[in-house]
Amino acid sequence: MMNTVHVALGARSYDVEIGPGLLAEAGARIAPLLKRRRVCVLTDETVASLHLEALREGLAAGGITMQALALPPGEATKSWPHLERAVDWLLAEKVERNDIVVAFGGGVIGDLAGFAAAILRRGVRFVQIPTSLLAQVDSSVGGKTGINASHGKNLIGAFHQPSLVLADTSVLGTLTARDFLAGYGEVVKYGLLGDAAFFDWLEGQGPALAGGDMAARVEAVTRSVQMKADIVARDETEQGDRALLNLGHTFCHALEAATGYSDRLLHGEGVAIGCALAFELSARLGLCSQEDPSRVRAHLKAMGMKTDLCDIPGDLPGAAALVDLMAQDKKVVDGQLRFILARGIGQAFVTSDVPRVAVLSVLEDALASC
Ligand code: GLY
Repeated sequence: MMNTVHVALGARSYDVEIGPGLLAEAGARIAPLLKRRRVCVLTDETVASLHLEALREGLAAGGITMQALALPPGEATKSWPHLERAVDWLLAEKVERNDIVVAFGGGVIGDLAGFAAAILRRGVRFVQIPTSLLAQVDSSVGGKTGINASHGKNLIGAFHQPSLVLADTSVLGTLTARDFLAGYGEVVKYGLLGDAAFFDWLEGQGPALAGGDMAARVEAVTRSVQMKADIVARDETEQGDRALLNLGHTFCHALEAATGYSDRLLHGEGVAIGCALAFELSARLGLCSQEDPSRVRAHLKAMGMKTDLCDIPGDLPGAAALVDLMAQDKKVVDGQLRFILARGIGQAFVTSDVPRVAVLSVLEDALASC
């Protein structure tokens, strides 16, 4: 039950290994990359308490010793003070140019540790060991690293590809149901953006997958990562096709900003709601049939996921204020809102040609139905 996805980026190519039990094999998998058998691990306190000993043993089995720094869990860690702490610690640990930094955690740790590796001694290699579903299917692959600024999320960063990604699917067993389903929002996104057969499969297998079926989990992570790897290989620095990965994200970013990046809405939950809204917008613009948004919403609901604006607890601002929040997204080009729309399930495309009034009416109707 072990799969490998290759990310083909010339000299920066690497493999993503996917399957249960990879922590135990971490030493054997990482050793070929090392000049000296020692790694520094950046993690968070939650992941450390659950899984750090297993990683230590897995590395030791391959003859590798490790030092670890556990940062506080949560989005606030993706900030200058924690980056400074991480970089200072890596320097104190005397990490050299030929060493490897290990990012062991979810998206926050992956982004922060990757960025720390990118700037340490002008760049050292790093290995991603993602522990959340969201990190396994999205953020650990593709080399986007960084931290948040007071001006917005992910505004400080670098493209820095990992040398290896180890996605141990047995680790997903310790996620809360809410975190797992938030990550599943990104899995659904892949089917919706480029693979209708995968979406069909998710409609059938989603409940088993959420219930813990390991073969289904490995298959879902593999197909998601394969799609991401193909897109990243075509467009590493997001000049074109990579923007497809942002399906649902224009709406999501506005909703995250409106909820103060708080526990009211997790990123993956916002992506799921955003995908439903993007399909609704596509149907209203006559790009796809009305059955498509209904089908998207039906699957999210069947999975017990947040699907509609009404599922977000607390008050939301009005439609016009939400559109204004979209305009602050870093992916706005020349002041134009950019959307990923769809001609059907699995057929997404990027466009800046969306009338503001159409976006407003989708949001007004969504808010009115609450
Ligand atoms: N998460 C979107 C990307 O990696 O491009």
